[in-house]
Amino acid sequence: MKIGIIGAMEVEVATLKSQMNIKNVVTKASMEFNEGTIGNTEVVIVRSGVAKVNAGICVQILVDMFNVTHVINTGVAGSLDARINIGDIVLSTDACYHDVDATVFGYKKGEVPQLGIHAFPADDSLREAAKAAIKKAAPDLGVFEGRVCSGDQFVSSPDVKKAIIDEQGGMCTEMEGAAIAQACYLNKIPFVIIRAISDKADGSDIVDYPVFEEKAARDCAALVKEMISSL
Ligand code: ADE
Repeated sequence: MKIGIIGAMEVEVATLKSQMNIKNVVTKASMEFNEGTIGNTEVVIVRSGVAKVNAGICVQILVDMFNVTHVINTGVAGSLDARINIGDIVLSTDACYHDVDATVFGYKKGEVPQLGIHAFPADDSLREAAKAAIKKAAPDLGVFEGRVCSGDQFVSSPDVKKAIIDEQGGMCTEMEGAAIAQACYLNKIPFVIIRAISDKADGSDIVDYPVFEEKAARDCAALVKEMISSL
């Protein structure tokens, strides 16, 4: 087992990097891949940069150059469900795009043409491991399992949020998960997305966003560390 761990932003990978034993650092596509171990588990930790293209490229490099067998995506997300509050965790059951539109040809909104699939299924065992780690390390944390909806936009209006909910039925929105999921699907690599909620994806609390983002990103990374130690 060798796990690729992707965060879009430095704050999302900094905690994990500081806790790993780094053996090798490789720069490719302007991304720094940190190869080493957390406990006894081999990992490669990388900051992909924001949005879908960065995320897809990042997975392909993890597969081709580092031979990872599993991928974990950690980071923050906006809530799409009134029950899910800032600080809660969402574990992916699957991931889809909210901004892909080939509906004129009869495809479902979000579906990439000719793949034969609308939402990319996440790995059940990785999700269970994440759940167990949260139960052990942070039993009071709100944990939700459901669909992650990704697109190349920071969702910050009630109308856009409602359209995503109506069309995709997701639990949270962010900018990389579905691209990571698609790249894993194409390479037959199991993945899970673990996101801490930093905002409500409707423009509210935007003044406090940087504070929530920082805390949510660090909390999420701490959970990933706990999860990896248990694998
Ligand atoms: N990441 C964190 N919050 C987000 C939002 N509201 N939209 C897109 N990506 C996010």
